Amino acid sequence: MKICVIGTGYVGLVGAAIFADWGNEVVGVDIDPKKLKMIESGEMPIYEPGLSEVVLANMKAGRLSFTTSLPRGMKDAEIIFICVGTPQNEITGAADLSAVWAVAREIGENLDGYKVIVTKSTVPVGTNERVKKIIRKYASKGKRFDVASNPEFLREGSSVEDMRETDRVVIGSDSKKALKIVRSLYEHLNTTIVETDLRSSEMIKYASNSFLATKISFINEMAQICERAGADVSEVSYGMGLDKRIGKYFLNAGIGYGGSCFPKDVAALYKTSTDQAYDFKLLRAVMEVNDRQKDYFMEKISGHFGKNLTGKTLACLGLAFKNNTDDIRESVSIEVVRTLRGNGARLKVFDPEAMENAQKVLGDEMIEYSEDIYETLKGADALCLLTEWKQFSQLDLDRVKKALNGKVIFDGRNLLDKEQVQKAGFTYYAIGKRTNGGDYKHFTGVSAILEDVSDE
Ligand code: UGA
Repeated sequence: MKICVIGTGYVGLVGAAIFADWGNEVVGVDIDPKKLKMIESGEMPIYEPGLSEVVLANMKAGRLSFTTSLPRGMKDAEIIFICVGTPQNEITGAADLSAVWAVAREIGENLDGYKVIVTKSTVPVGTNERVKKIIRKYASKGKRFDVASNPEFLREGSSVEDMRETDRVVIGSDSKKALKIVRSLYEHLNTTIVETDLRSSEMIKYASNSFLATKISFINEMAQICERAGADVSEVSYGMGLDKRIGKYFLNAGIGYGGSCFPKDVAALYKTSTDQAYDFKLLRAVMEVNDRQKDYFMEKISGHFGKNLTGKTLACLGLAFKNNTDDIRESVSIEVVRTLRGNGARLKVFDPEAMENAQKVLGDEMIEYSEDIYETLKGADALCLLTEWKQFSQLDLDRVKKALNGKVIFDGRNLLDKEQVQKAGFTYYAIGKRTNGGDYKHFTGVSAILEDVSDE
C-alpha cells in the first residue's frame, strides 16, 4: 500500500518506519528540513531503542523516504496519516489542534483522487468530524475521500516493539470502505482489531491513558497510606496485580507520572468533561494526587536534612520522564532537581540518555553533569533515584558506599531492595514503605488498634 505519514515525532516516525517494514511504500512528511536531514543520515532526532535500525533498513530497501512537501508526499498515497503534535494549551488545558487543522487544509487543497485520511495524533472527540469538514471545504468539487481515526498506543522507550506487538488496533470511521482499507494495513498482526465510530475511537485513546494515569495515582495514594500503616506498597501492588481483573502493570508507586502524554491527556479529557457540563471528579483527583506526589518525596529529603539544603550536595540519578528515553517533557525528575536547587542544594546529575536535553532546560547553575553513575555519587551527601532506568536498580552497593560521602539514599521509584540497602548500612527512604529512614511516631492509626487489644 502507498502511505503518507505527516509528522515525524514519536508516533509519525515510528509509524512510518514500521509501516514500511511491513512492506508498504511510505513517504514521511515534516516541515523541518533539518530534522529530515538528520533522519536521512541515520541520526534519529529521538532516542528510541531499535528505531534507527528499522528506519535505515527500510530507506535502504527503497520503501521509506522523506520530504518537506506535503503535496509531493501525499500525491500517490492511498492512506494519509496525520501524526502532528497536539500539545496542551497552558491556559485551558485543552489540546492545541492548530497543526491538525493546518494539515487538513493542505490535504484538502491538494486532494487529487480518493484517499483515506487517518488521524493518529491524540485528538479530542469531534476532531475527525472537523477534519472532514475542513478537507471538504478546501478540496475541489467532486474529489472523494473518507476520514478515519486510528489512535496509537505505543509507549516511548519501547515504541518500535509496541507497534509490532500491540494489544489491539482501534479504527473509527463512518465509512465501511475506509474501515476496510485501514484494517488491511493491520490484518497480518495477531491482535484484535476494534472497528467503531469516529467519536468512540477518539474517546478510547483518552479513556485508556486516563485510566492508566488513574492506576498510578491510585497506587501513589496507596503508598502514602501503606507507609503510615506500616504496610509495603510494593508487596501490596504485587498482591493486587495478580488478580487478572486488576493486572500488574502501571501499579508502581513513585514520584508521579510525567511525559508528553498522561498529564496532557488527563487534562484534556477533564476539559472535555467540563465542556459537556460534567465534573469528572475522579480525574480531578488523579491530577491533584499526581501533583502532590513529588512533594511527598521532597518532604522525605527535607525531613532528613531540613528544608534549607545550602552546603549539601545531592547526587541525582535519572532526568528523563521515564526509562529508555531521552525525553524530558513534563519530567517529574527535572521538577525535583529544580526544587532541590531552589532549596539551596548543589547537584550532581546523571541520566543514560537525557543529559543533553536536561542541560538545555536546567542550565549549569549549581549543577554538575556527570559522566557515569559512580562519578555522580562521588562526594555527595545523599543519592536521589528519580527515573526508573534498569541500571539504577542494579547498583553495586559497595561502590555506592565508597563513592557517597553521606550514606543516605532517597529512592523515588522503589528501585532498590530495602533489606539489602539497609543491611549495607545506608539510611534508606523509599515510597510507601517503612524503612530505617522514616520517623513514624506521629502515624497513630495502627498503633491505636494494637493498644485496644492490649487493654483487654
Ligand atoms: C503513554 C501510554 O502508556 C501509551 O500507551 C500511549 O500511547 C502514550 O502515553 C501516548 O499517548 O502517546 P508514555 O507517555 O510513553 O506512554 O509512557 P508510560 O510508560 O505510559 O509512562 C508515563 C509516566 O508514568 C512516566 O512518567 C512513568 O514513570 C510513570 N509510571 C508508569 C509510573 O509512575 N508508574 C507506573 O507503574 C508506570
